[in-house]
Amino acid sequence: MLTDDHRAVEKLFARFEGLGPKAHKTRQSLVEKTSQLLSTHAGIEEMVFYPDVRSKLEALNDTVLEALEEHHLVKMTLAELQGMRSEDERFAAKFTVLMECVRHHVKEEERELFPKVRKAFSRGELEALGERLLAAKSTAPKRPHPESPDTPPGNVVATALTAPLDAAANLAGAARDQVRDLVT
Ligand SMILES: [Fe+2]
Repeated sequence: MLTDDHRAVEKLFARFEGLGPKAHKTRQSLVEKTSQLLSTHAGIEEMVFYPDVRSKLEALNDTVLEALEEHHLVKMTLAELQGMRSEDERFAAKFTVLMECVRHHVKEEERELFPKVRKAFSRGELEALGERLLAAKSTAPKRPHPESPDTPPGNVVATALTAPLDAAANLAGAARDQVRDLVT
């Protein structure tokens, strides 16, 4: 499931890279989709996956701490992008740096972290973990919150409070974009 998310975000990146210089609306909407996908993905990893890995595999503690810092950078950049218009000369450059960071993070997770977890967890444990990740997806953040706690129990509490507001903010954002499209 986590690697499916990685493939989905890579598709969004490839579409972004294929856009022409005037495709402002598509660029903005791809960044919005990326933001939702990565906010939720990071949230379920931080609430369920990383805590489980740290409690079972102490040797991976540093790897997880590094992953949390990478998530933090990604969320900060996404939050900045959300306050910008795609016409801004810094917009594409900012997103390009974000793509580099995410691609590095994905590579490390898939080459180092996931194989070690697959090896250390039993089949039953992996299935239970997968079910908890799936359950967490529906309540996970839908927007980036770089200033919120990213480890339990703080992140679980913060997410319960902010996730409903995220959904409302995303709806408001979509409505704002529609109005902008009508008047510009
Ligand atoms: Fe991650």
